[in-house]
Amino acid sequence: MMNKPFSQACENNKDAILAILASEFRTTRRVLEIGSGTGQHGAHFAPNLPHLLWQPSDRAENLPGIRLWRNSAAAPNLAAPIELDVTRQWPDGPFDGLFSANTAHIMPWPVVERMLEGAGQLLSSGGRFCLYGPFHYGGQPTSASNARFDAFLRAQDDQMGIRDFEAVCEVAAEHGLHLTADHTMPANNRLLVLVRG
Ligand SMILES: C[S@@+](CC[C@H](N)C(=O)[O-])C[C@H]1O[C@@H](n2cnc3c(N)ncnc32)[C@H](O)[C@@H]1O
Repeated sequence: MMNKPFSQACENNKDAILAILASEFRTTRRVLEIGSGTGQHGAHFAPNLPHLLWQPSDRAENLPGIRLWRNSAAAPNLAAPIELDVTRQWPDGPFDGLFSANTAHIMPWPVVERMLEGAGQLLSSGGRFCLYGPFHYGGQPTSASNARFDAFLRAQDDQMGIRDFEAVCEVAAEHGLHLTADHTMPANNRLLVLVRG
């Protein structure tokens, strides 16, 4: 039998992210999570945000683990995970919330652009995309550890790497998504809030 996949980073960041989502998603009804990974985030957020429906998604290989975390959370507002590669067919809405953690530096830049385009198409007016992870500002890392992480990613695959905050905001704006908040998070991460006009 498969064990639940585990990410220590998710355990470390889940409460800090939840504190922001409780405010940013306070009137949100349906959230699509992109790149759920292990599924730990949804299993923590859904029971703590009972006013909304949390819809996890990821590429097919991650769905079995996400299902295990969903089963253990037993939260009525945590939906069964669905397959979503952002370069392919997106689910039908309506969704007034999107969440994605630690995906933009893993996806090649054209895939990040596609994620932002899809977000602009999927979200209803006033809907918000909360995008968590490390970002560079003015082309510079915000810490020595982020510089090391960026170099580590690029050594593995030159399509990966920490994204520029300004480039993300520019592409988001092309798709009707406007930055309303840039939250400082622990461990040199950020949580960007992009609202659909
Ligand atoms: C570093 S993991 C982050 C997982 C989780 N969100 C977290 O914070 O631990 C990156 C995730 O992005 C997903 N991903 C990569 N490319 C993707 C794509 N084209 N469409 C959807 N998800 C993708 C991977 O499958 C993986 O789950």
